[in-house]
Amino acid sequence: MVLSLCTVVAPGTQIREKNNTFSLVTRTCSLTDYISSATCVQSHYRLICRGGFTSNWLKAIKYEITHLRIMEWPGECFNIDRLQHHFPEIKILEFINCTTLKTFKGHFDSSCKIEKLIMHGMLSLWELPAEVVVHMPELREMDLRKNMLRHLKEPVLVGPRRLERIHLSENTWDCSDGGLDWLAMEPDNSTVKRRIADYYDLVCYQKLYRGKPLHKVMDIIRTMRQTCPEPCTCMMTHVVSDPKGAVIPLITVDCSKKGMEEPPSALPPSTTTLRLEDNKINTIRSVVHNPRYQKLADLYLDNNSITAVKELEGTDWFSSFRVLSLRGNLLKQIPVYAFDKAFQQNNNIMHVFLGHNPWRCDCHFIPRFQGLLLKYKRVIRDLPDIRCSESNDKKTSFVQISIMPLGNVCSSEVEMPISTINIVNLVLLGLIFIIVGRFIYDWHRFKTTGYKYYKYCKVRSCEVSTSPSSDAIPEPAPTEIELTSAPRLRINP
Ligand SMILES: *[C@@H]1O[C@H](CO)[C@@H](O)[C@H](O)[C@H]1NC(C)=O
Ligand SMILES: *[C@@H]1O[C@H](CO)[C@@H](O)[C@H](O)[C@H]1NC(C)=O
Ligand SMILES: *[C@@H]1O[C@H](CO)[C@@H](O)[C@H](O)[C@H]1NC(C)=O
Ligand SMILES: *[C@@H]1O[C@H](CO)[C@@H](O)[C@H](O)[C@H]1NC(C)=O
Repeated sequence: MVLSLCTVVAPGTQIREKNNTFSLVTRTCSLTDYISSATCVQSHYRLICRGGFTSNWLKAIKYEITHLRIMEWPGECFNIDRLQHHFPEIKILEFINCTTLKTFKGHFDSSCKIEKLIMHGMLSLWELPAEVVVHMPELREMDLRKNMLRHLKEPVLVGPRRLERIHLSENTWDCSDGGLDWLAMEPDNSTVKRRIADYYDLVCYQKLYRGKPLHKVMDIIRTMRQTCPEPCTCMMTHVVSDPKGAVIPLITVDCSKKGMEEPPSALPPSTTTLRLEDNKINTIRSVVHNPRYQKLADLYLDNNSITAVKELEGTDWFSSFRVLSLRGNLLKQIPVYAFDKAFQQNNNIMHVFLGHNPWRCDCHFIPRFQGLLLKYKRVIRDLPDIRCSESNDKKTSFVQISIMPLGNVCSSEVEMPISTINIVNLVLLGLIFIIVGRFIYDWHRFKTTGYKYYKYCKVRSCEVSTSPSSDAIPEPAPTEIELTSAPRLRINP
């Protein structure tokens, strides 16, 4: 019940609130907005006002105040013009914990005497607008620590003539969206950089650079910009830290649709991705043999005019790359064995794309190519687009190679050729049969004939052993003795 009430009521009130604040920003943004809730305390030349200004401080011009601290200003907008009017002599101005303040109306002008500007705890202010401060002739120091600042424009640092130092740490700097790229391009000893007293303490906060030291990220951005090849664009897509804490950028160089005939000769250090789609490149030799391309992991060569990839064979790059896209080129065939070998060795490999090429469909290439496609179907990601080139042969024209019956390319006569090794096998098999048959035959013959002799001998020799005269006679050799002795034994009894 309570929940549903909330959801019904909330949108209405939100809209009304937004309308109210909107009208406050545009219409009033006055120092008198919060008179009723404000408290102000003066001690000598110093004034501290909390939650707005009380009415007695806005009745006349207060020349005696030189140090003003504005705390917990309740609105989204603060009127600088009126502040200057009522307090023309302030030298130190502080904004503390104005958590809702987002915008300023007007700006400090050349009559401003402020020497030190302090802002802390401004949780809704993303950027100090340059126009507010650029004309301050006496400004020497700005302390902008402990806010939620994300961006900073160069004029904030260059504009105030006498500015000596600015403190910027403990903010939520966004180094990723180009808002600080101007700072990256400043030389290290430039006046602008030297004005930032805590430059080496600044930390990037947003997105991919979160937690990385700002000065290191700026160095990387500068190097990337200076080494980015014409006419390509370079982008940092990721940042990692190595175990020693060094920041390692992962850079994408995008050269697609530039009409290039050659890949760029150099890349920013630690480029991991190169996009060369829709160009006129016809060989990948310069990619795989260029030592500057060593760290390249992902290579996109879609829609070029590459006819062969023999150059990949045996290169280091081929056994360590992560992504290779050759879609939409003029490949008719690839060295299948080299691909198989490289894919086996490559532990980084993630995706390979080979679709939309005019593959040659014959019995020489297709059985091996199909084997490769099926063996690595987890890596080769566009099997449905890998088809035979268009032709008059209905059995192959535009047929998906990975599921094509091999009979389509290999006709039946050629289909089952009996290879020499099989002939040798058959001959050996025949020999084995002959040998085994011969052995069985011999054994059988021996068994039948040998058994008869043995039986005869046994019977006779028993009778022989009963005769005393035959005691010393050794066991007689079969056949002869038995035949001769038989009649003798019969005579004896
Ligand atoms: C809300 O703001 C719009 C302009 O943005 C204005 O036309 C409208 O009258 C306002 N409504 C109220 C209730 O203030
Ligand atoms: C500002 O707010 C923070 C946190 O709410 C608090 O710790 C700090 O004391 C406040 N500063 C002043 C000057 O009141
Ligand atoms: C900045 O440093 C470079 C070399 O590090 C030097 O050539 C140059 O003169 C320096 N510029 C200034 C303004 O100090
Ligand atoms: C390549 O060309 C085809 C057809 O012209 C197009 O559909 C495709 O988007 C292109 N691919 C890339 C990566 O540009």
